[in-house]
Amino acid sequence: MTTTDPRPTGGNLPLARTLGLDLRRVPRHVACVMDGNGRWAQLRGLSRSDGHAAGEQALLETVYAADDIGIGWLTVYAFSTENWKRPVGEVRFLMRLNEMILLRNIDELDERNIRVRFTGRSDRRVPPRLRREIERATERTAGNTGMTLTFAFNYGGRAELIDAMKRMADDGVRAKDIDEKAVRSYLYHPDMPDPDLVVRTSGEYRISNFLLWELAYSELVFTDVLWPDFDADELYRAVLAFQTRDRRFGKVSTIVPEPVLAAR
Ligand code: IPE
Ligand code: IPE
Ligand code: MG
Repeated sequence: MTTTDPRPTGGNLPLARTLGLDLRRVPRHVACVMDGNGRWAQLRGLSRSDGHAAGEQALLETVYAADDIGIGWLTVYAFSTENWKRPVGEVRFLMRLNEMILLRNIDELDERNIRVRFTGRSDRRVPPRLRREIERATERTAGNTGMTLTFAFNYGGRAELIDAMKRMADDGVRAKDIDEKAVRSYLYHPDMPDPDLVVRTSGEYRISNFLLWELAYSELVFTDVLWPDFDADELYRAVLAFQTRDRRFGKVSTIVPEPVLAAR
């Protein structure tokens, strides 16, 4: 297959079936904290930049694996509002890498009918070339009807809520009119469903300012795998874990416990 041929849709389905995934109950929205690039590189005596570069393959595998099993929304944390505090050379590399990821992969993403979006604060520190590619990718795929792939870039959950509050104040929203629906309508993408599943790699058990409003009731899966080693198999294992969870949303469980079933 040449690089211009899109991968066959559904290429990962046999793997999903082998692992025992219930394809009727895949999460609608999966969000990933792609963490551990630096440590992956360090373990191999490479530079942190090499680790980030190696993360591109993991990202693509994850995107296509998610698409293959019918995940409708995939959101990936690519750069946080706090990541500006990293060394200037690393920040510069990440800006360039994200631009290249778009340039290298937009044809295939578009071929697969994937809608590419960005969520986060626009910022003058983001190089114009990257801003242009973000705009191009967003516009080119805006009409696609397949999976929505959202890059959280210069994204912070607190920043999103602050921006929402500011716009609510500007619009003169009255206190009596503020409820969950009103707040949601001021988020960066009000039409984005809340993540059902959040996966964080690299053995860190924290949220790091990701989607603070949206993940109120998400199921969380943490894995020790470092992001560049993440792949279809790892994604499907996370989905399998999700499928064992009892999502109660504050209510009482509707699942009948095994012993009761056995006694019937
Ligand atoms: C995640 O990998 C990528 C970004 C945050 C941009 P890290 O760069 O955080 O890798 P570690 O956590 O240092 O290993
Ligand atoms: C979270 O990872 C942000 C991204 C994956 C883009 P970090 O590596 O920045 O998070 P902390 O600093 O370990 O909490
Ligand atoms: Mg990290």
